[in-house]
Amino acid sequence: MFVLCAICLSIVIPSSAVNVLSVSEREISFNLHTNASFNLNSSEPVSENVTIWFGYTDGNNLYPLPNSTFVENGTLIDLTFTLAAKEAGHTTVIAKVTPPILIVKDAYIRVGVYKYDAWNVISSIIGWLYFIAWSVSFYPQIIENYKRKSVIGLNFDFLGLNLTGFIAYSVFNIGLKYVKEVQLEYHTVHPTGIIPVETNDVVFAVHAVFATLVTIFQCFIYERGDQLIAKSTVAILALVWSTAGVFLLLTALHVNKYTPWLTFLYFFSYVKLGVTLTKYIPQVVYNYQRKSTVGWSIGTVLFDVVGGLFSIGQMFITAYNFEDWYSFVGNFTKFGLGVASCTFDVIFMIQHFCLYRHNHLPSDESALIA
Ligand SMILES: *[C@@H]1O[C@H](CO)[C@@H](O)[C@H](O)[C@H]1NC(C)=O
Ligand SMILES: *[C@@H]1O[C@H](CO)[C@@H](O)[C@H](O)[C@H]1NC(C)=O
Ligand SMILES: *[C@@H]1O[C@H](CO)[C@@H](O)[C@H](O)[C@H]1NC(C)=O
Ligand SMILES: *[C@@H]1O[C@H](CO)[C@@H](O)[C@H](O)[C@H]1NC(C)=O
Ligand SMILES: *[C@@H]1O[C@H](CO)[C@@H](O)[C@H](O)[C@H]1NC(C)=O
Repeated sequence: MFVLCAICLSIVIPSSAVNVLSVSEREISFNLHTNASFNLNSSEPVSENVTIWFGYTDGNNLYPLPNSTFVENGTLIDLTFTLAAKEAGHTTVIAKVTPPILIVKDAYIRVGVYKYDAWNVISSIIGWLYFIAWSVSFYPQIIENYKRKSVIGLNFDFLGLNLTGFIAYSVFNIGLKYVKEVQLEYHTVHPTGIIPVETNDVVFAVHAVFATLVTIFQCFIYERGDQLIAKSTVAILALVWSTAGVFLLLTALHVNKYTPWLTFLYFFSYVKLGVTLTKYIPQVVYNYQRKSTVGWSIGTVLFDVVGGLFSIGQMFITAYNFEDWYSFVGNFTKFGLGVASCTFDVIFMIQHFCLYRHNHLPSDESALIA
């Protein structure tokens, strides 16, 4: 019986079926005035004469690579190609083999060509600066709470929304960055796509959850007056998390057969989106009602606005340097979120530095002290 199965298997899976064509790099970027090269390998010698050629995505800005490279039966593919560009831009180069006897699904490379090295360096420095600014932005609030031994003035609805938002963002980032199953699904939807999550996105999100939990912990141990989280916020958060639970159940039961885990993760990215657009509203209203920003750290707001401006600035620099306003439009959500956050920050600054600058204590609290 066992021998029979083994024979069946060896017939079903011919040994040549595992020859995989791969590229030395997934992404490459270089200055318009220079060239870059990449290597193409097969895992096994080819079992027939083949020709290798290349396809390009729309808006190809590269000089064409040799259209047909002949590889004789029995040789291992190990070829180096040099890329040169006519103009700045992004193109995905896809290797093809005729006859199609190799597995080529990973044989593509995303090529970015930029105009100026200096802008490229500035862009990556700005990337680090906004990562740092946003990560540090949690601490002025934590320090202020600690110094006052009070969280009066810090809105609990904001904290609840913020925690949900960053947990959702962490789930999304970790799933896409580390779960093989999710990545496979991502590549069925975007066959030549690059996973849009980097390690520092994961670090930022997980740290944000931690810092928000510390702030929430402070709400339990410090003076908080009669502050509570609003029933409507509790209802919204309960709805979000029970939807997540139902979604998880449906996913585990394979109701959506096509890309179950990816769809599940996109749900979390929409949660993060919704939270980012709404989380500051309760705090703005609360400051307005108290006619004071005492207890709401302006340091946090300043770091947040600096991070937001850097993030938006980096998008502009990248679009300009790569002459790629198309991907700027494609990234419109990120841009919109940055603008929305900065807008709220400006409202907070107006409240803090203009409207309520004389009200260091709200009337009822100063009455209490008097
Ligand atoms: C880049 O490649 C192009 C086309 O293959 C060639 O004409 C040019 O001399 C190369 N430039 C450099 C700097 O290697
Ligand atoms: C592919 O080519 C690179 C560079 O020539 C080499 O280092 C690597 O070992 C090759 N991989 C395979 C699977 O042959
Ligand atoms: C390729 O070469 C192998 C061994 O050298 C040979 O058995 C096979 O028939 C050849 N394939 C073709 C399509 O010629
Ligand atoms: C493969 O290429 C070699 C060298 O060009 C040629 O001699 C041979 O006839 C080719 N084989 C097939 C099956 O076309
Ligand atoms: C390139 O070569 C392939 C295979 O040899 C062929 O099918 C294709 O039409 C060629 N493309 C161009 C633009 O010459």
